[in-house]
Amino acid sequence: MSQEAIYPPPAAFAAQANVPSLEAYQALCAKAAEHPEEFWGELAQKELHWFAPYKNVFEWNPPFVKWFTGGKTNIAYNCLDRHLATNGGKVAFHWEGEPGDTRTITYAELHRLVCRFANVLKSRGLNTGDRAIIYMPMVPEAAVAMLACARLGITHSVVFGGFSAEALRARIQDLGAQAVITADGGWRRKKEVRLKDAVDESLAGCETIHTVIVHRRTGSNIHMQAGRDFYWADLEAALDPATANDCPAVELDSEHPLYVLYTSGTTGKPKGILHTTAGYNLFLHMTMKWVFDLKPSDVYWCSADIGWVTGHSYIVYGPLSAGATSIMYEGTLDTPDFGRWWSIVERYKASILYTSPTAIRALIRQGEQWPEKYNLTSLRLLGSVGEPINPAAWEWYHRVIGGSRCPIVDTWWQTETGGILIAPMPGAVALKPGSGTFPMPGVLPEVVDLSGKPVPAGAEGYLVLRRPWPAMLRTIWGDPKRYEEQYWSRVPGVYFTGDAARRDAGGYLWVLGRVDDVMNVSGHRLSTMEVESALVKHPAVAEAAVVGKPHEITGQAVCCFVTLKQGAHDHEALGKELRQWVAHEIGSFARPEEIRFTEGLPKTRSGKIMRRLLREIVTTNSVSGDVTTLEDLSVVSKLAAQQEDD
Ligand code: WT7
Repeated sequence: MSQEAIYPPPAAFAAQANVPSLEAYQALCAKAAEHPEEFWGELAQKELHWFAPYKNVFEWNPPFVKWFTGGKTNIAYNCLDRHLATNGGKVAFHWEGEPGDTRTITYAELHRLVCRFANVLKSRGLNTGDRAIIYMPMVPEAAVAMLACARLGITHSVVFGGFSAEALRARIQDLGAQAVITADGGWRRKKEVRLKDAVDESLAGCETIHTVIVHRRTGSNIHMQAGRDFYWADLEAALDPATANDCPAVELDSEHPLYVLYTSGTTGKPKGILHTTAGYNLFLHMTMKWVFDLKPSDVYWCSADIGWVTGHSYIVYGPLSAGATSIMYEGTLDTPDFGRWWSIVERYKASILYTSPTAIRALIRQGEQWPEKYNLTSLRLLGSVGEPINPAAWEWYHRVIGGSRCPIVDTWWQTETGGILIAPMPGAVALKPGSGTFPMPGVLPEVVDLSGKPVPAGAEGYLVLRRPWPAMLRTIWGDPKRYEEQYWSRVPGVYFTGDAARRDAGGYLWVLGRVDDVMNVSGHRLSTMEVESALVKHPAVAEAAVVGKPHEITGQAVCCFVTLKQGAHDHEALGKELRQWVAHEIGSFARPEEIRFTEGLPKTRSGKIMRRLLREIVTTNSVSGDVTTLEDLSVVSKLAAQQEDD
């Protein structure tokens, strides 16, 4: 057998780490597994502020769980107020806009901004139990809006700025939101993303929204509807100056709905993943210390967008709860050139960088000359998230960015898990490139077959989780039945992640990717059905089947097989049009890489499209396995042959 690369924790790193040895990590796991109530209960008391103590650490009525029942707390209080006495002057965010504008915001300043904006929300009649959509660029106001909602107990739903008006409307309606918080636009690759225009389009025919609050970012011309649309600054200016800065955090139940974040499932309809207050807060707080080894002196940078769960948990709630100084950056990694990120690391002396394999691969392609121009010696820890990281990208990240001195934490988790579930504690665990290594304390992953039986070491199986953890999703918004079916019935009694994995002889976990009809494009989750539904809305399209195709940079790319309605079609023009169509229906990140026109799609006799075959065609250019259930075998060979002609 070939020797696997293994990287023990550097001695200097372990010596200063929050969890400094394998024994220390194992002790945490043993306690969490054997005495979960004591384990989480002690941490909750030590690490969070409570307005009223909880009665039970957790109540588990499978598949529904409640944590810290009876307790009263507020995550915005834990992120802001409690730091003020000792750390009010500490920087919460070093923010940098894409055009180069910068802003430094201390905890005291952030607290003030959040209180003022919470008062703005109140002035528009919004309060505990209401719902607000946040559709913003990567500006501090996005975090302010989230925290102001959390402060009042308004359940927020952040919609990534790359989503279309159509996608935004679907989310507004599903959530039954009363307000939208947005901006005129944001900057991306020197172009304006016109967010308010998309909001206007999405609100046509939408009854529930009575208020749209607009932050001025780009200063461009936008439409403002009288009585509904208000500028953030105008509403703030209208507050009574004597009380504008005062807004006590509402004492909320531990299980108060903090936010709903929509993510792609196996059907065309996105799932509204519900996260609640106390358990989520505690789990993020702990993973900041365990996985990112956070210290008061760190400058931490998570390069995600606030519109995805990584931004929620590891730009806003986790780092602020743990009192970190963070970097927030608005733009892309190639603007104005591929040195941008490294210039940010150098200028702010970032010590922890958390990013995605897609970004790393894009940077590798540009060569080492970009990072070489900058001083990256402030970095002490690197992180990866979103998809499996290929060992070659891992090695490059380790050597070129981390100067061969920084451990890499490969963090496996999902929108549904709320926080990191599988990742090394970097002072304790020896790393194997491409493996997420071991679980967080209290998290019990297993690799099983569909009957729930563990598969032998080294074998591939389904990744499932045996126990509820504090940041676990509570349900799918408005659809508890779908929650049960989707996560708790594929393998009886356990949480089904949708990922394949294997555990090697040393116990290391290797997550291999999705086993369902979910694609992963640049670490963004996208359902094949969602893209198919968008395509068949086009008047020329009869049928569509969509699969993920391996892609050097983005991991997977969207590949569409399309049959057309009768009539003459210019394939080249229509291909372009359909790619644009999907971008308009879902969002630019969903734009297909490839549209292939075909005369038929491979189907089973019961009419189900055999995506497995299509996946095989785009991956290997050939087809194997059992195809006897095909309605028309010739369809497959034609598709495969066509591929070879290309
Ligand atoms: C899916 C979840 C977690 C926040 C970003 C994505 C894949 C995520 C890893 C990793 C292998 C990973 C899985 C998972 N994934 N991180 N470190 N190694 N795969 O959140 O959009 O909910 O997607 O991303 O397939 O199920 P998401």
